[in-house]
Amino acid sequence: MKKIATLTSGGDSPGMNAAVRAIIRGGAHYGFEVIAVRHGYKGLINGDFTDVEHTDVSGIIQRGGTVLKSARSEEFRTKEGREKAAAQLKDRGVDALIVIGGDGTFRGATLLSQEHNIATIGVPATIDNDLIGSDETIGYDTALNTAMEAIDKIRDTADAHERLFFVEVMGRDAGFIALETGIASGAEIIVLPEYLTSTDDIRESLNRILKVHKRSTLVVIAEGDQTGGAINISQALQSDFEDYEMRVAILGYIQRGGNPTARDRVLATRLGFEAVKAFHDGHSQVMVGIINNEVKLTPLKDTFGKIKEINHDLVALAKILR
Ligand code: F6P
Repeated sequence: MKKIATLTSGGDSPGMNAAVRAIIRGGAHYGFEVIAVRHGYKGLINGDFTDVEHTDVSGIIQRGGTVLKSARSEEFRTKEGREKAAAQLKDRGVDALIVIGGDGTFRGATLLSQEHNIATIGVPATIDNDLIGSDETIGYDTALNTAMEAIDKIRDTADAHERLFFVEVMGRDAGFIALETGIASGAEIIVLPEYLTSTDDIRESLNRILKVHKRSTLVVIAEGDQTGGAINISQALQSDFEDYEMRVAILGYIQRGGNPTARDRVLATRLGFEAVKAFHDGHSQVMVGIINNEVKLTPLKDTFGKIKEINHDLVALAKILR
């Protein structure tokens, strides 16, 4: 009987549990033994394995976080760390490792594969949606909805006091969350790392918007933007807009938690199962993704380290409608 090990690694994202459930049950469907690794690569290095049965993953599809726990492992970034991890997998007779995570997770899995000839399959899970090879990553939709709901609440206050709000959202180096939450919440300005925006540009846009009429104004800023985030931007503009009460809100980790949306649960379920199927069909060193509603396999090494194109039409639309 072939043996698969699975783990979640890096920043948690809502839907990881749904993917774990699909891997455990999908593995049983194909007649594989599936074991889980707790605490990501850190746990792999330390041999933190656990047996999981069909019923162990009951009641987790709706839960945020990850029942397997996660970690960012410094040791796994080293050759020695990966050597220890590979030895653990070989000792347990593991034939393939399915990793659920983002770019750091896939970078590590690629090196592990290359250095130790271990079959690896990636399941894309990050709220940042910055992996190439899938239209959306697991957790992105939930994060969008969480951020949008939070911004709606901020809008009420902004409206009541006619304030100028700078709201910073997550996304690491990518602007996917900022762009879509900005559009969904009717933000007047959206600042993205994919476009070089200076404080002069923001000042000019604000002057134009505020000239039309005084009202609540929301500027949604991606944390990875080169201008240095919401605090820096608001400070740089303070003296130019003294007639307005300015406030900053950094949404932070609320964007990573919470029950996954239906869309994330379905995506995670499909991708978890497809990861097992990919191994069954003889694939290795690939990431499973969904593009235009079809399952696609992309070489794992090609999924990270490059810029995933943002939807420029949406950027243009946001500017027309503000
Ligand atoms: O990758 C997910 C993410 O939440 C990013 O949006 C954010 O920049 C980063 O993780 C925060 O990382 P940490 O959990 O290490 O603080």
